[in-house]
Amino acid sequence: MQKLLIGTRNSGKFAEIQALLAETRIELVSLSDIGLELTVDEVGATYRENAALKAQAYARASGLITLADDSGLEVDALDGAPGLYSSRYAPQPGATDADRRVHLLKNLSGHPRPWRARFCCVVALATPEGDTQFTEGACPGEIIPEERGQFGFGYDPIFLVEGKGLTMAELPMDEKNALSHRARAVKAAVPLLVSLFG
Ligand code: IMP
Repeated sequence: MQKLLIGTRNSGKFAEIQALLAETRIELVSLSDIGLELTVDEVGATYRENAALKAQAYARASGLITLADDSGLEVDALDGAPGLYSSRYAPQPGATDADRRVHLLKNLSGHPRPWRARFCCVVALATPEGDTQFTEGACPGEIIPEERGQFGFGYDPIFLVEGKGLTMAELPMDEKNALSHRARAVKAAVPLLVSLFG
């Protein structure tokens, strides 16, 4: 059976996508599984463009149908920042997820709470020939000034999920996968995968 390549080097994302697609029984492979060292510059102007750039480049290079996502955190008080730049949102080179959380809280410190925000995700599904389909998902919440929880990655410890009273990082993966932006986008892609993989 043909394999589905997951076009990400973020191990947190890979694990979430793997759990979300377990029911499809499609065999997933990572970039490192197939030894693909290609890096794709995220130079698009939207999540959709960046997701397409990644999915199409990895599909072309590998000859495999490829799923890639582009995602980000949008904070209303910062006019939607960090948004498209969420993974690069810190002044210092070599910054970590923890540095980016500190930087975000510093930029929010003068603004009145609640700091309303949402995670957004666009999934692109590309064939080696370049045919590409998209799905989307979002998850509303607010940024809080202290870190809570040990699961997840990125901004999860400071993102309080709307209606839950818990941060994304306080939710074990199966609970995050019941409501997250990525879960919504990946689940919407399942019927597309089923028709591609027959
Ligand atoms: P990209 O989609 O690889 O360009 O990176 C998206 C960035 O947005 C990640 O590196 C995180 O900083 C942030 N992000 C996206 N999804 C999540 C999530 O589920 N939890 C926490 N942070 C996220």
